[in-house]
Amino acid sequence: MTETVAVQPAGRLAGTIHVPSDKSIAQRALILSALATGTSTVTLREAGEDVRSTAAALAGLGVSVSQSKLTAEGLLELTVAGAADKAGRGRLEGDTWCGNSGTAMRLLAGAVAGSGGRSELTGDASLSRRPMERVAAPLRAMGARVSTTDGHAPLTVSGSRSLRALEHQLPVASAQVLGAISMAALAAEGTTTILSPGPTRDHSERMLRAMGARVTREDLGNGSGTRTTIEGPATLTARPWLVPGDLSSAAVWVVAATIAPDANVFLPGVGLNPSRTAVLQVLREMGANIEVRPRTPGGVMSPGDEEPTADIAVRSVSRLHGLRIDADRAAGMIDELPLLAVAMAAAEGTSEVHGAAELRVKESDRVAAMAAALAATGADVEELPDGWRIRRGRPRRALVATHGDHRIAMAMAIAAWTGLAEEVILDDAACVAISYPGFWRDAGILGAAGAGVAT
Ligand code: S3P
Repeated sequence: MTETVAVQPAGRLAGTIHVPSDKSIAQRALILSALATGTSTVTLREAGEDVRSTAAALAGLGVSVSQSKLTAEGLLELTVAGAADKAGRGRLEGDTWCGNSGTAMRLLAGAVAGSGGRSELTGDASLSRRPMERVAAPLRAMGARVSTTDGHAPLTVSGSRSLRALEHQLPVASAQVLGAISMAALAAEGTTTILSPGPTRDHSERMLRAMGARVTREDLGNGSGTRTTIEGPATLTARPWLVPGDLSSAAVWVVAATIAPDANVFLPGVGLNPSRTAVLQVLREMGANIEVRPRTPGGVMSPGDEEPTADIAVRSVSRLHGLRIDADRAAGMIDELPLLAVAMAAAEGTSEVHGAAELRVKESDRVAAMAAALAATGADVEELPDGWRIRRGRPRRALVATHGDHRIAMAMAIAAWTGLAEEVILDDAACVAISYPGFWRDAGILGAAGAGVAT
């Protein structure tokens, strides 16, 4: 169901928000647990639709995923019965639906390929427009049979029990493609090497190591990208996962509190994996007041400290400065670029984002969607092939097309609450649930809200 919502300037934003668990980590915890021997638990705060789609897609592949309880802290505990036998082999089989989630479809394609099973993977209209050949080609080179529909989903994967290890150069820096190949590499004989032209989030590598696989990630230096190696065949050991807060969701309030007048927002328990923190660095360079207090090791993601976690405190600043982001940094904050575009529209001077063409193949064409949305609110925006040139403008009332994309909806709600628009009418308030089901509730806790919801 889509809902139209009118969002107006909110004034002061203050309070404490527990953001939902990290979507990338939660999805990997479910998929890797399904490939393990033994039973794992995945403990989460407020699973969004992408995480639920991943659990449902695994069920479609014959994996038992059940909700065992709601803990006293309001966390959801899911139990995943690993499909592997004692020798580490298990079959994922059955046609399945991945909803809106690129991570689910791409990682599961790799997992099915390595399991020797067969599946047709389908998704919604947005997911069916996204490129899948970048996953299909390396999986074929490893020995799986993979067909796409003109390079898109539906994707049919027939796996093999004797995949070949591969050396593969990713055409674009993508954690999803790297993750897909890694899933298949667990079943292949020998060392699979994946070269990425730029840095990507490294959750797959960290989590595979935590389950006993031999996996390395090396930064090649001088902006030459990264090299990941995976030794196969690998047996994964089941374990409990306690998934930290999602930095991409926290970034919504970090940007809002930076721009809003007299704001003071506290965000406890946020995952601060170094491959995800570029957004905080850029905001600081623009002049933001962000304090990060690391939590003691093992405090949030137990056992061990595979994913560092911190509390974040943000206060507003009276001035932000524009800046330029180039390709070498864009991949490290790809999901936060719509929010950074909003911060840029609040900053003094001209800002530029380059090297972000990948944004055009996300849940929507986010380069075009944000250019249109910010221009409608009165900002001075030039759409570039791979980014934007942005200057502050004169706030107006704007009708904004979200294209059903959660990140566009949240970024433009922030633009309205912080006074960058006189009012924003979003055509779809409900799509935020893909990553942040409690977004409108949490806005209310901070003193902002959507007003006059109409259908
Ligand atoms: C994700 C990787 C990113 C990101 C997406 C989640 C992941 O995509 O945009 O929201 O969980 O691996 P890339 O494949 O472009 O890295």
